[in-house]
Amino acid sequence: MAHYNSKDHYFHKAKKEGFVARSAYKLQEIQQKYKIIRPGDRVLDLGCSPGSWSQVAAKIIGENGFLTGIDLKPVTISSTKRTQFIVGDILNLDLKEMGPFSVILSDMAPSTSGIKSRDQALSEELCYTVLSIAKRRLDKGGNLVMKLFEGPESEQVAKQTKDLFAKVQRYKPLAVRKGSYETYIIGTSFNFNY
Ligand SMILES: C[S@@+](CC[C@H](N)C(=O)[O-])C[C@H]1O[C@@H](n2cnc3c(N)ncnc32)[C@H](O)[C@@H]1O
Repeated sequence: MAHYNSKDHYFHKAKKEGFVARSAYKLQEIQQKYKIIRPGDRVLDLGCSPGSWSQVAAKIIGENGFLTGIDLKPVTISSTKRTQFIVGDILNLDLKEMGPFSVILSDMAPSTSGIKSRDQALSEELCYTVLSIAKRRLDKGGNLVMKLFEGPESEQVAKQTKDLFAKVQRYKPLAVRKGSYETYIIGTSFNFNY
């Protein structure tokens, strides 16, 4: 397991800037590089608790956008006219009534057991679920950001993502803790044919 100082530079920066988690800076970096989210977008934020990605995304989508966040745990931020938060497990949630969305974000992570292969397998399962949600709920031309614990199946996850998006890249933001094996798969311009 990686050892780190839990109160690092990004922790203090988040506190100072009003973000509820240091993860905010991962999405900010991804957004700066890939311009995933645009004003007016309808965003689905999977694994949104405590809510820092939702804070970042809500700012970008502005008054004409809408964000739906889902997590096993409640968020610690307030909802607004342009955001709603649902407590639930995406592995058995009926999304029929929701969306469609122009962007899907997933920062979901399984609760880590410390057994690397097990944590990777659970993370991959979450990614496959995200891809199946994208097939049902993402607009043509839409974008995806999804966290993956890198492991033996990573290529397979990337390959399945490539079948659905015009462009797929992997990116590890600077804000990811040193020694962590998490990475992000960025899919742009969803082009799955129904
Ligand atoms: C790293 S945290 C997300 C942090 C969040 N992006 C933020 O910026 O505040 C990962 C989250 O994934 C959620 N999660 C894991 N499995 C899930 C599932 N099956 N359904 C919904 N949420 C899940 C966890 O409850 C946890 O809150």
